[in-house]
Parts: sequence; C-alpha cells; structure tokens
Amino acid sequence: MEERYLVIIEYAKGSDKGVDGFRADTKVIQKAIQHHAQCEGEIVFYTHKKRELLKDYILKQGEGKSLIVVSRINPGNLKRVDEYFYFLKQLSDAGAEVQTHPDVMINLNFKDILYKLKDSPFCDNTTEFYPNFEAFETHFPHRLIKEKKYVLKVNYGSTGEGVYLVELKEDGSIVSTEAVNNVKYYYHTMEEFLGTFEENFDDDIDESELHYFQGKSGFVGCRYLPRISEGEIRVLIINDQPMSVVHKKPKEGEFSATLFSGAHYQYDTPNDPKWKEVVKLTLNAFDAIKPYLQGKNFPLLWTMDYIMDYDEAGNDRYILSEINCSCVGITTQPQLAQEVGKVFQR
Ligand SMILES: Nc1ncnc2c1ncn2[C@@H]1O[C@H](COP(=O)(O)OP(=O)(O)O)[C@@H](O)[C@H]1O
Ligand SMILES: [Mg+2]
Repeated sequence: MEERYLVIIEYAKGSDKGVDGFRADTKVIQKAIQHHAQCEGEIVFYTHKKRELLKDYILKQGEGKSLIVVSRINPGNLKRVDEYFYFLKQLSDAGAEVQTHPDVMINLNFKDILYKLKDSPFCDNTTEFYPNFEAFETHFPHRLIKEKKYVLKVNYGSTGEGVYLVELKEDGSIVSTEAVNNVKYYYHTMEEFLGTFEENFDDDIDESELHYFQGKSGFVGCRYLPRISEGEIRVLIINDQPMSVVHKKPKEGEFSATLFSGAHYQYDTPNDPKWKEVVKLTLNAFDAIKPYLQGKNFPLLWTMDYIMDYDEAGNDRYILSEINCSCVGITTQPQLAQEVGKVFQR
C-alpha cells in the first residue's frame, strides 16, 4: 500500500487564527487526518509571490507517496483568489488529492449555484442571475417594483459582503442594507440607485488573464424571505454526511445572520427530530448537486444554508440561501475533526 503524506495549506493573515498563528481548528483536523490516513504531514503557508516555489516544495514532500492536500484558506483573505485556485488545480493535475477541489469550490461556493439549481425543490424558482450591468438594468427594476423588497448577492463573496437587501419605498426612494454589518444606504430614485450600483459590476477586469473566474462576475437576485427573522438553518456536512444543524438567529429586527453582526448560534445533531425535514431535504439535494462536482469528491467540510418559507398550502418550506465550501471552520465543534479524518480512511 502506498504511503501517504498530508499537506494543509493556510494563509498567514486573517481574523480566523488561533494564538499559535494557525486557524484555530487546523491542528485537530491535521491530527485526525494523520491518524485515520496513517501518515505524516505538515502545515504550510501560501503566498501569491511564492506560489511556484511552494508548489514545487509540496510536490517534493509528497514524492513517491500519495499526496493529500487540504486547503484551509478563507478566499476572502486573498487578493488573487483565481491564482490560488489555479495553484490548487495544478497540484491536483500533478496527482495530489486536493480537498476541496477548486472546480468544486467554483461551482458550489459562487452564488450563481442558486440560479443553476432554481428549479430544484429546495430552491426558489424565481431566482435571477445578472451577469453584467446591462442585464441588471434591464431586469432588476421590474423585480423590485413587483417585490418591493429584494436581495442581491454578488456572485463571489462571503461573510455578508456584497449581499444587499434592497427596499423600494412608497415615495419611490430606495434603501439598501448590506448584510455584512447592516449598514444602510439611501437613494432618492431608481436611477440614482442603478447609477451607484453600476460600479459593483467590475467590467475593467481583463478576463483573458483569469484561469477560473471568467464569466463569474455579476449578481444573483433572490426573493426576500421575511422568515429570515426566525434565523438561518445551516446543515454542516462532512463529505456526504450531514453532521450537525446550526440555527443562526439574526439580532432582533436585523437582516444579517452572520456571526460578526451579533447573530445567535445554536448547535444540534442531525438526528434531532426538529431538523428531520431539513436533513432529509439535504440528503435528497445531493443528486442535484452531483453534476457540479465534475467527477470530484463532495467538499470535505461544507454547509448548505437555508431560510424558512411557506409552500402554497402554508406548510414550512426550506429554501437554499447559499452553499459554503471553501473554508468552513469547526472551531466551536472540535469533536467533528475525527469525522473529517475518517474521510481519509482507506
Ligand atoms: N433571500 C433572503 N431573504 C432574506 N435574507 C437573506 C436572504 N439571503 C440572504 N439573506 C441574509 O443575508 C445574509 C448573507 O447572505 P448569504 O447568502 O449567507 O451570503 P454570505 O454569507 O456569503 O455573505 C444571510 O446570513 C441572511 O441573513
Ligand atoms: Mg452566509
């Protein structure tokens, strides 16, 4: 049996670090993987400048062995995410088992997955995608006039940045609330709003220089779900096993359920009767998600986040609001590290 070797990739900066400078959950994950894969391993730091050298170093460390690479970088910390994903892809092409594979992160972590899956039973079938400002300017005003409240999500973003709740007032003015910190912006008219919003579509990027992010800009338009006031339901998944359900409740009267905005979190096991429905829905969703894995594994550690709604009969219904799979943490649930390790059991 071929010997294995584990390399965990981190980024030196960011607010997600423990006292030792690593992500607070990296070492328990490292220990668990090394235990279950019965191998040695190390943690390395990625920088854009040293990416070529680092790639050679990692491949050298794994020479003659079967190499496991686990990415533990929150892409929000990187300026050139596209280059980082390409770096991971090169490791994969060189034979490493990269978890989570960048193809999978691109497909699932970007918000346009909500548009791609819109006709699935766990999604909202009115979801729109505006790849450029022209499409936005053409379609968004109609939707806002019809809905009065509408949610815009930048295709690539996290922790509430670039997610806006847009509200059309009786007098035609517009209030936009950004989820990152519930900061509000005011506009007298639709024209003023559109004029300001245009800069969010960065058309000046030279797409030919991108490996991965071509055609990936734009915004997803989602129906506002008022039951966000009851919180967001996060199913935490390890590979293809739901492991816990986290109920995240926004601060009273607020829109954002991100931890930084002061939301309250409660953790339950997936067999809690309260969450039977949503766990079943998640397991059933895997079939719809599979084509987007492009033959790769499910993400190593990921979440499907839902907001409650009502169906036509007035029963509870869960609507997918996002998938996170680029760097989900388990700092508050370190016991799950063993389950992460087991994914690498032969
Ligand atoms: N359709 C929606 N209706 C109401 N609130 C929403 C909706 N989608 C997102 N939100 C709110 O915005 C926050 C951020 O959106 P989310 O899709 O989770 O993006 P991210 O976490 O990547 O910034 C959520 O935590 C939730 O509070
Ligand atoms: Mg979120």
